[in-house]
Amino acid sequence: MKEKLEQFLKSALDKIQKAETSDDLEQIKLEFLSRNSELNAIKKNLKDLSIEDKKIIGALANSVTKQIEDELNTKNEIIYKKELDEKLNAESIDITLPGTYNPTGKIHPLTQTINEITTIFQGMGYSLVNNENSPEVETEYFNFDMLNFTKDHPVRDTQDTFYTNVAPNVILRSQTSDSQVRQMLSQKPPIRVISPGRVYRNEAISARKSNMFHQVEGLLVDKNITMGDLKGTLNEFIRLYFKGSRPTRFRSSFFPFTEPSVEIDVQCIMCNGKGCRTCGGSGWLEILGAGMVDPNVLKGVGIDPEVYSGFAFGMGVERLAMLKWSVDDIRLFFNNDKRFLQQF
Ligand code: PHE
Repeated sequence: MKEKLEQFLKSALDKIQKAETSDDLEQIKLEFLSRNSELNAIKKNLKDLSIEDKKIIGALANSVTKQIEDELNTKNEIIYKKELDEKLNAESIDITLPGTYNPTGKIHPLTQTINEITTIFQGMGYSLVNNENSPEVETEYFNFDMLNFTKDHPVRDTQDTFYTNVAPNVILRSQTSDSQVRQMLSQKPPIRVISPGRVYRNEAISARKSNMFHQVEGLLVDKNITMGDLKGTLNEFIRLYFKGSRPTRFRSSFFPFTEPSVEIDVQCIMCNGKGCRTCGGSGWLEILGAGMVDPNVLKGVGIDPEVYSGFAFGMGVERLAMLKWSVDDIRLFFNNDKRFLQQF
């Protein structure tokens, strides 16, 4: 029995010595220490032995078990380390390899500009008119008639309107000012809205002009609104948009739907007023048209001009984007060249 146990121990230690993987160790554990092992059989049969033998063989069996367990544990540690090293080596990452390129989409610079403009006015309490309330395929009625453009007034030609063959009076809107009329018809003063959108004009396309571009229209109607409010509001907008106050110039102008009317210039961003190609040597750049809402327009939408007054403004989105990022050709915004768009 004693010899048998010694033989058993030797063969177990031998196998453990030769084991190379954790699977090998599992196998050895099954063979030598499981319930079906020879060792267990000896332990079970101890009861049939004499008291003397029971003591000796029992102690020996226990010591054999312990030795096998210890050896298994030691070897297991070695194998575990070795296998881990192998795994880490096999899976090591070469941090000098270029990563996989995941192209991500970006918000178009014009949309970014519109968002920035509307956010500034929302901060001043204006609400945003959504697209459904501001159609691009518009009638002359909203685009011109209700804005105090007389039927045959030549100023209609200055906006080079695109007519459609849908119906005689259906056009592509030439300005976002149509939304002023729609807003004043759909809500009572006080009104404070901002309305961005596309407009179309039959222009020859060049570095400075496109036949489709974007405007943001603003309208405020309330009691006791003055030209001072208009000026303060737009100066504040310019300060926030250009991140710092810039010299502005209010030039008197003409629009049929505002009286008085102004055009607002900012000092040229490129040359700081010295005069350069971008500003045509004048040192100033026009960024928006504005004015006090003409009493005739108020009357047309059923608002009493004796009680209410208001101001409106319309700004060119492309112009503002070009100034902010020093882009010198408006066509870049529409060509969809990724090398251009990725820069914003
Ligand atoms: N709609 C005018 C244009 O496109 C700009 C404007 C808007 C002027 C609002 C006055 C008030 O030129």
